Amino acid sequence: MIRILPTSQSNVSQVDFDNIPFGKIFSDHFFSCDFENGAWTNLEIKKLEPIPIHPGNLAWHYGQAIFEGMKAFKNKDGQAVLFRPELHSERLNASARRLCMPELPKEIFLEAIHTLVNLESAWIPPQKGAALYLRPLMIAMDEALGVRPSEKYRFMVMALPVGPYYPKPVKLITEQTYIRAADGGVGEAKAAGNYAGSLYPAKLAKEKGYDQLMWLDAKEFKYVQEVGTMNIFFVIDGKVVTPKTTGTILKGITRRSTLLLLQDLGYEVEERLIDINELVEEYKAGRFTEAFGTGTAAVSSKISLIHHDGFDMSFEQSDYPVTSLVKEQLDGMRFGDVEDKHGWILPVKQEVAI
Ligand SMILES: Cc1ncc(COP(=O)(O)O)c(C=O)c1O
Repeated sequence: MIRILPTSQSNVSQVDFDNIPFGKIFSDHFFSCDFENGAWTNLEIKKLEPIPIHPGNLAWHYGQAIFEGMKAFKNKDGQAVLFRPELHSERLNASARRLCMPELPKEIFLEAIHTLVNLESAWIPPQKGAALYLRPLMIAMDEALGVRPSEKYRFMVMALPVGPYYPKPVKLITEQTYIRAADGGVGEAKAAGNYAGSLYPAKLAKEKGYDQLMWLDAKEFKYVQEVGTMNIFFVIDGKVVTPKTTGTILKGITRRSTLLLLQDLGYEVEERLIDINELVEEYKAGRFTEAFGTGTAAVSSKISLIHHDGFDMSFEQSDYPVTSLVKEQLDGMRFGDVEDKHGWILPVKQEVAI
């Protein structure tokens, strides 16, 4: 049962919905619950404000912190909808298992999302492509030092309006010194530390004029993994290929949806190991014609350049037919213009157990 403590005054009227910077504007309320004595308790939605954290908090010292990123949309009838929320719950729990944190029952996750979005529906920007970004987060809460799993945890969900995302084509460089994830590591988990580790190599790439890194495997620096906060796809000889998930790649929900969507549309798709040298050869032969990233933020994002070992694979001449199709179909499904064959779009429940 979620206890709702509404604020007396909303800040929604102060938001310029035509001009929303990503990640900076939070809605009025957030969801919070605690894991104590082996059970989830204190389920509440209340005013979003700073929370007191002890300096000895285990998450800060040893990194037990995992999160999710998902979106609520308004369809063309003004109804609030979610995209495959149960998959975010499953991925959160997969991350929790890897980081030795407690799983959160799917019912609590979904009830928290539905209740918060329902309460904050005025915060969902109405334009097509705009959304209310939802950030579920779980952190350790024990106040003690020593490397061990925490006994107490907190799970929270914040909501942030975000504008329509028109990603500009991105320029990538393969990373041949640093790694994002190794076999047996935590690359498949959405763990906060994975992002911290990527910041320095990403900064070096930016200094060289690239937008993001294309990560390669940790052993041979040969097999493509993913990009920044996106999974990656290549169009080779009309076939759509993406690296298979072997434990080092985040299992993107947009990736999974894109694979099925393209199959439905008659494309041949393949999940397999992709050798960077194969990409170079296929590019030289004129068969590698398009590259794009997928993720909750951008849906699908054009890749205009991949630099590897002194060689540029440029796609500036491409008109990105597959990238655009994926974006049009997924945005269209959320807006209600494109048929949702697989039941990926869920209306936000109006009646929630309070
Ligand atoms: C490292 C990484 N890879 C891929 C993705 C794309 O995943 P999704 O499609 O579930 O947003 C994300 C974003 O969550 C990410 O952070």
